[in-house]
Amino acid sequence: MQTRITELFGIEHPIVLPGMSWISTPELVAAVANAGGLGILASGPLTPEQTRQAIARIRELTDKPFGIGVTLLMPGAQENAEIALQEQVPVINFSLGKGDWLVERAHAYGGKVIATVVSEKHARSAQAIGADALMVTGHEAAAHGGDVTSLVLVPAIAAKVSIPVIATGGFADGRGLLAALSLGAEGIAMGSRLATSQESPLHDQTKAAVVARSEQDTIYSRNFDGIPARVMRTQRSIKETRRPMNFFIASWQAMRAAKMVQQPVWKILLGMLAMVDKVKLLAYFGASVPKLKAATEQGDLDYGVQFIGQTQGLIEDMPTVADILQRTVADAEAIHRQQQQLFR
Ligand SMILES: Cc1cc2nc3c(=O)[nH]c(=O)nc-3n(C[C@H](O)[C@H](O)[C@H](O)COP(=O)(O)O)c2cc1C
Repeated sequence: MQTRITELFGIEHPIVLPGMSWISTPELVAAVANAGGLGILASGPLTPEQTRQAIARIRELTDKPFGIGVTLLMPGAQENAEIALQEQVPVINFSLGKGDWLVERAHAYGGKVIATVVSEKHARSAQAIGADALMVTGHEAAAHGGDVTSLVLVPAIAAKVSIPVIATGGFADGRGLLAALSLGAEGIAMGSRLATSQESPLHDQTKAAVVARSEQDTIYSRNFDGIPARVMRTQRSIKETRRPMNFFIASWQAMRAAKMVQQPVWKILLGMLAMVDKVKLLAYFGASVPKLKAATEQGDLDYGVQFIGQTQGLIEDMPTVADILQRTVADAEAIHRQQQQLFR
């Protein structure tokens, strides 16, 4: 299947592994790249040195193109982006911040830039600064999807920009790929689906919990990490999202979390001072880290909280990455052929 997304990134299938903290690791990124998709490394939990090592590790595991994700609002993100530019990573995916400098510097070595957006306004400004593609993230998505569902957000944005769109949020199989193409997208990103692949480092107990739960079993709330986010519905997440965390508790927990992600506390404090208006957000975000890590790494859903999308209801197995990509494309083609009968 050829679209502007496959041409732009030099990949075989228009399927992207988005950056997911502690999940989109070098091994999973390389597995997706080797299977013909575009894997994006999650740099959020990494120090600059770890980012450099992770890039080197991906290059040991694959000679295919890959990307790196940077959430510009977060402490340490600019430094990680700097490493990615120095290492001339083929694709840089930024979110929550101004990426004009990234575009300029990535283009200088022939790199491409994807902007993650949840609104038309941000889509237009990303195009204006020269982004090569958009990851348009709808309400169904795990973690920080927008207010509007992909069914509406993707065609609304695709109609207003000239750069290609990667539909994100709610896509887990061939039906979703074909639907995304019909909506004007030229590729899909699959977070929840690839997080439950065999090669994903998501804990087996958490993968099994995803398979067991339905599309109804997620919660979308601002009360978890400060930005509206979708998580798996569990007793713990119901409790966590009932009301916003006390700001002082959140700040204290954020300091503790800073140590877990190996960010010096001064850097978090400096980040908070530099962005006084975003202090609350950073505190809540930091406070969520231990719970996310517990669910993802230890399979602990009693204390931990797991980002997951509504596609949970479409995930019924844990195949290899190659199987997921192949069957997604094959099923999209088969459904397309069947649908042609409808128009005779
Ligand atoms: C387990 C998991 C962890 C995620 N972690 C992050 C993250 O750290 N940062 C981020 O911006 N998005 C994160 N996401 C969201 C994905 O980047 C992507 O937007 C989302 O998974 C797309 O929706 P889908 O799950 O329906 O495919 C995560 C998603 C999942 C499933």
